[in-house]
Amino acid sequence: MIDLLIRDLAQVATPGGASGPLRGSALRDVQVIDDAFVLCREGSLVAVGPMRDLPANLGSVEEIDGRGLAAIPGLVDCHTHACFGGDRVNEFSLRAGGASYEELHAAGGGILSTVRATREAGEAELTRLTLRHRGWMRAHGTTTFEGKSGYGLDHDTELAQLRAIRAAGGVPTWLGAHTVPPEFDDADAYVDFLLADVLPEAAQLAEAADVFLERGSFDALQARRYLEACRDAGLALRLHGDQFTESGAIALAIDLGARSVDHLEATGPAGVAQLATSDVTGVLLPASALFLARPMPPARALADAGALIALATDFNPGSAFCDSLPLVLSLACTQMKLAPEEALVAATANAAHVLGRAGRIGRLRPGFAADVVLLEAADWRHVAYHLGGDIVHAVVEGGAVTFRRTA
Ligand code: NIG
Ligand code: FE
Repeated sequence: MIDLLIRDLAQVATPGGASGPLRGSALRDVQVIDDAFVLCREGSLVAVGPMRDLPANLGSVEEIDGRGLAAIPGLVDCHTHACFGGDRVNEFSLRAGGASYEELHAAGGGILSTVRATREAGEAELTRLTLRHRGWMRAHGTTTFEGKSGYGLDHDTELAQLRAIRAAGGVPTWLGAHTVPPEFDDADAYVDFLLADVLPEAAQLAEAADVFLERGSFDALQARRYLEACRDAGLALRLHGDQFTESGAIALAIDLGARSVDHLEATGPAGVAQLATSDVTGVLLPASALFLARPMPPARALADAGALIALATDFNPGSAFCDSLPLVLSLACTQMKLAPEEALVAATANAAHVLGRAGRIGRLRPGFAADVVLLEAADWRHVAYHLGGDIVHAVVEGGAVTFRRTA
């Protein structure tokens, strides 16, 4: 593998600390080196520092001229539904005309319309579509993405989704308990089926399990039964919770030692206080709140209370057709009052923690993966400042350039 030197960078910016997530005042700990270099060897970072410390006699290395550019760690999207068939543009138009997301769901549209399209697609097409979506995310600086199943809701399609996500380079999460499919008239019977017929194979393919704890999908007792069985099968735990109503997701996540509880648009002060004293990460999805015209989650209150927080796109065809983490960082700053430093940490080191990878990705440190985003700006904060802008100059993954902006 060829060594890669990125030299004469205007800035390198990285979360501080050796590994692990940052919270409280450390959530703002972004270390900036001016006039800097990044050196990659065999897929890992070997040195990051000021140009004056650049080792001499590097031998034959490929060089990238970083003049006028800032480098940040490859962004980590820890919550996506990037494996799906079809689209929901008709539903989008109906919502623009006043229909609500929850009404469409209750009428058999919403998630269930994507279930129909995903079942029809077949595994090869799902893999092709997930790779396509990965390409979109990469062009915005995402170098690691998590992808959930949850649009199959039957044995074969759930497993096909998990294999497609893995084949496309994603970190697979089993969201069998996304909603109840039409073949079942009650949620308990569907959970019985999931645990007996799908979990044994899903546990071999996925790293984590997730559940949609919300009226119209699963209640806290059903979510507990599903998650406990998934935990016993060796999966890490995640929850979709407090999106529309506070339904006990935070208490359940803490009780089960889940990695994260995601959404939290409906979380009130008691939930904030509860989460802040736990080791469960609150994953905030402001693009979803924006797309559904919902209140933003209480990010500032969570950060001030010392909670662990991460940011993600929630990329999916219904509630957040958004593949751009830089846009999410912008929303975090403008709509949720996070500092750019907090937003960067939340979408790198802390998102890596949610995926169980905080010792390997999310920081520009020797020994970490050589996943680097070069920004078309001399000040790294443009990643959040340039609202939905074309900010990514190039993306390096495992020491190889995988995306270059054209003109
Ligand atoms: O995170 N809330 C539940 N699930 C997804 C949306 C899925 C969909 O609408 O297709 C979410 O918003
Ligand atoms: Fe989601």
